[in-house]
Formats: sequence, structure tokens, C-alpha cells
Amino acid sequence: MKFSLAASAAFVCSLSRTVSAFTVNNQASFFRSITENEYVVAPSCTQLSMGIKTEIVKATSKLGGRSTAAIAAAVVGTACVKLVLDKPSRKYETGSVAKEYDAWTQDGILEYYWGEHIHLGYYNDEEMEAGYKKKDFIQAKYDFVDEMMKLGGINSDDDSGASVLDVGCGVGGTSRYLAKKLGANAQVTGITLSPNQVDRATELAAEQGVPNAKFTVMDALKMDFPDNSFDIVWACESGEHMPDKKAYINEMMRVLKPGGKYVMATWCQRDDRQTPFNEKEKRDLNFLYEEWTHPYFISIEAYKELVDATGLMNEVTTADWNEQTIASWRHSVWVGVYDPRGFIFKPTKYLKCVRDGYCLERMHRAFDCGLMQYGMFAATKKDELATN
Ligand SMILES: C[S@@+](CC[C@H](N)C(=O)[O-])C[C@H]1O[C@@H](n2cnc3c(N)ncnc32)[C@H](O)[C@@H]1O
Repeated sequence: MKFSLAASAAFVCSLSRTVSAFTVNNQASFFRSITENEYVVAPSCTQLSMGIKTEIVKATSKLGGRSTAAIAAAVVGTACVKLVLDKPSRKYETGSVAKEYDAWTQDGILEYYWGEHIHLGYYNDEEMEAGYKKKDFIQAKYDFVDEMMKLGGINSDDDSGASVLDVGCGVGGTSRYLAKKLGANAQVTGITLSPNQVDRATELAAEQGVPNAKFTVMDALKMDFPDNSFDIVWACESGEHMPDKKAYINEMMRVLKPGGKYVMATWCQRDDRQTPFNEKEKRDLNFLYEEWTHPYFISIEAYKELVDATGLMNEVTTADWNEQTIASWRHSVWVGVYDPRGFIFKPTKYLKCVRDGYCLERMHRAFDCGLMQYGMFAATKKDELATN
């Protein structure tokens, strides 16, 4: 869900910052600086477009210069683009997750840039210091999986031959990676809501000779698997899409075998119980929910409480990997700038790419200011349940 027509996105983001200054607080001074003439403040955001047009017409007729007209046109254009982009286009509703991932899989743009992994990459301190753009974008994703394995205490010595469930598997990049790492006797099952992802994941497993990774369409909120089925339950960036976070956690803990390992990565919003979200934060979150078909996010603390509430798990380790992953948002825009071949021959997808680039930047900002956090979780299931 995350990629880029990066140049346009960067352009829109920077111009839209200018227009943002206008939208809520500074309409008057903004126009004063353009026209140095009289102005009328647009009375509300909903009247922004009309207000801008009126002012530009007034200003250009007074100044009459070509340069003023050009500035005016740029401002109007940017305001219009911003109005379009700020209106989320892929709201969560029944069937929307499958529909959007089917589309992303079919157009191939996401796979072109992100490869087989639809999750953020991992950048260590040295790499961040050297400049994240020097790191290979796809390698960062493999590094993320390696680090997540470490967090979950998963390795080829202890877990060779394990049965693994990959909850929300995308096109199965991680499922295949785990299947290879844990050896031919391991059996990895990836589930997703998207039939196109299952087809693509199965095709890639055949191409790469990984028969021990299998894929099926199944809802993580009501899985067909019996209790205590898997040695490892792995969930990477699927919780964001779940309309019922409690059922998501309960189901994963249910199908995990006693003594089994659970590890999860998911985008979280900050805990707002002490400091409630202000209006801007609410607007920002709403955009992030509704642009990429997320019902809502919850906090790291709230997820931990859900896991604890099952009563099935030992001590849960949590962490915020924002620092290690934040480079991914802008890096994914840059890979589009450096190599536009992934989208350039698909003009019908241009608007969608611009929307995605814009959303990537807004994600970056939300994580950068602490509104969002990158939640990591690991725990084992209590052993004594084996005898129950
Ligand atoms: C951001 S992708 C992550 C893919 C994969 N884990 C990876 O890291 O490459 C989110 C995935 O979660 C899946 N998903 C979302 N809601 C789901 C649900 N209720 N049941 C099963 N899969 C779901 C989507 O279909 C998609 O494959």
C-alpha cells in the first residue's frame, strides 16, 4: 500500500505546506504578502477554494502583471491539489482491504519498489548517520525481518521444522524467507484477505522452489485453525487493518501452541489516555486511517493490555521501533524519484501514485512528531496450558 510517484509527491507536499499556512490560521497575512492589496479572508476551510479563487481574481486584476498571474495560478492549483489529496480516498469498509490489496498486487507498482515485503525497513544507527538513502531499500526489509526474528527469539537452531502462521502475509515475502531459514521440515502458512496476493505468493513460492510455504485466503479474525496449531505466530503490519483488535489478538493467541512464540509488528498511535488528542492530531489520524483503508489504530499499551487479558501468555516484551524504521517513509519516495520505471508507463495510476506519495510523507510526519509509534511485541504462550 505504500509506494511513490515521488517527485510529484514531494512537490505537492512542499507547496501544500505553503497552502496549509493559509488554510486555518494565516489567510490574511498570506494574501497580504501576495497582493499587498486589499483582501478578504475565506471564512472557513470548506470555503477555502472559493476564497482563494476570489482573492486571486481580485489580486490579479489590481496588479495586472504576468508574474502575479503565474503566482496566482500556482496557488490556486496547489490549493486545489491539496484539497483533493487531503480528502482520504480509500476508507475502510467491508471488503475494502481485499479490494485494495488485490489492486495493489495487480498493478505491480508496489512490488516493483517494495519487492516481496510490504512492511517498513530497518536502519541501524550507523546507517542513519551515514544517510539512509545509501542503504538498499529492499535490503532494509530483510534486515527488518532478521531483527524481528531476534526479538521473537526465532532462529534456525531452535525452530527448524516449526509450524509457522504468518497473519496478513501480503505476497508472502516473509513467509518464504522464514520457510527457507527454518529449513525444509518447517511448514509456513500465510493468510491474507486478498485472493490476488495468494495467487502471487503461491506463484513466487513455486518459482523460488519453496514448497513449504503455503498461502490461503482467510480472515485473521475468525481463523479455521484448531486451538494450539502453530509453534510460531508472526504478524507484520496487519493489525492496522483489523476492525476488531481484541479478536485479532485473541485469535492469534488461541492458535499458538503452548510454549509457542508470538511476535508482532504494527503501527500504533500514541496512548491518548493521559493527553487526549488535539483537533489537529485527530484530523491527521483520520487521514491516516482513511487513506489506506485502516479502521483505526490503537496504542502499544492498549495492544499489550489485550495480550495480557487473554491470560494465555507469559511476560510480553514491547518496543517502539520508530527510530529504526522512520527512514522507510521518505526512502520509499526517493526510490520512485531515482527510478520512475515502476509507474511511468502506467498513466492511469498516476493519481493513485501521487496520493500514495503524499500519504507516505504524512505518515513520516506523524511518526516524526510522536503521534504514531512503531509497535513491536513478543511473548511466549504459557506452557502449563499444555496439560489443560
Ligand atoms: C501491509 S500488508 C503486510 C504484508 C506482510 N505481512 C508483509 O510484511 O509483507 C497487510 C496484510 O494484512 C492482510 N490483512 C488485513 N486484514 C486482514 C484480515 N482480517 N485477515 C487476514 N489478513 C488481513 C492484508 O490482506 C495484507 O496482506
